[in-house]
Amino acid sequence: MLVNRATANGRPAPALRAEGVTSGYGGVPVVRDVSIAVGPGEIVAIIGPNGAGKSTLLKTLVGILRVNSGRVFVGSEDVTNHAPEDLARRGVGYVPQVNDIFEPLSVQENLEMGGYLLPESKLPERVEEVTRVFPALAPMLKRRADKLSGGERKMLAIARVLMLDPAVLILDEPTANLSPKLADSLLRDHVQRLAGLNKAVLLVEQRARAALQVASWTTVLVSGTTRLEGRPGELLDRQDFEELFLGAGTTSPAPTLPSPNGGAEDPEVEKG
Ligand SMILES: Nc1ncnc2c1ncn2[C@@H]1O[C@H](COP(=O)(O)OP(=O)(O)OP(=O)(O)O)[C@@H](O)[C@H]1O
Ligand SMILES: [Mg+2]
Repeated sequence: MLVNRATANGRPAPALRAEGVTSGYGGVPVVRDVSIAVGPGEIVAIIGPNGAGKSTLLKTLVGILRVNSGRVFVGSEDVTNHAPEDLARRGVGYVPQVNDIFEPLSVQENLEMGGYLLPESKLPERVEEVTRVFPALAPMLKRRADKLSGGERKMLAIARVLMLDPAVLILDEPTANLSPKLADSLLRDHVQRLAGLNKAVLLVEQRARAALQVASWTTVLVSGTTRLEGRPGELLDRQDFEELFLGAGTTSPAPTLPSPNGGAEDPEVEKG
């Protein structure tokens, strides 16, 4: 029987949930038995070293890769191995790590393509709404996307996905290639605001500390498995955080944080 781990922990009911997901590219599985949930208004950060399987997990959640075992749910609906377009129709938006925009097209055309499930008559109104979320894009609608700066490009990639007004937003390393200052601003000014609009945000980040500053819940993925999860404050307080994050000592026993479903009503006061 599946247990709703999130609500047991004082978190919102999940908008997107994976239970025991194993997946990969056909050979030995890359992601093994990973469970994760994100609810409205939450920012759940997945952190972990290069090659840990973070992008693979996201691609599995959005239906690009097959789930070998385990289940994926949108709300209470089982969407395991549904096609990516079905996930999009159900309100799951995904910004990939690479190939996140169409470079030869203008900003406006990119946004319109993001609205591919909408009737054409709705597009102008929706472009306007989305550029209100990212005002920096408003004066550059006619500009070719390959002329954008790194930060503008990422805003466009997120704005494109917002065209369908998703309830769940899955972002794969949105701050990659940005300066620390821009990265901070993207996370604080934009990603955090999207959660404030009650979107469920699932975020993969290499900048672990920056991610933990904005996240409400964090999963540390190492070698395709969940190494640790909990509230960011608990993770930052750990002496061995850097070592864990860098993936050192992956063969040692799993560290003991209050388990997400272990009956700890308030994990903030249950530091292990
Ligand atoms: N298309 C693919 N075919 C086969 N193996 C792949 C493919 N893409 C990724 N992998 C492998 O899967 C493992 C996990 O890769 P993944 O891209 O999910 O890691 P990641 O945690 O996102 O890393 P990074 O932080 O560098 O983006 C790696 O060993 C990688 O080589
Ligand atoms: Mg990746």
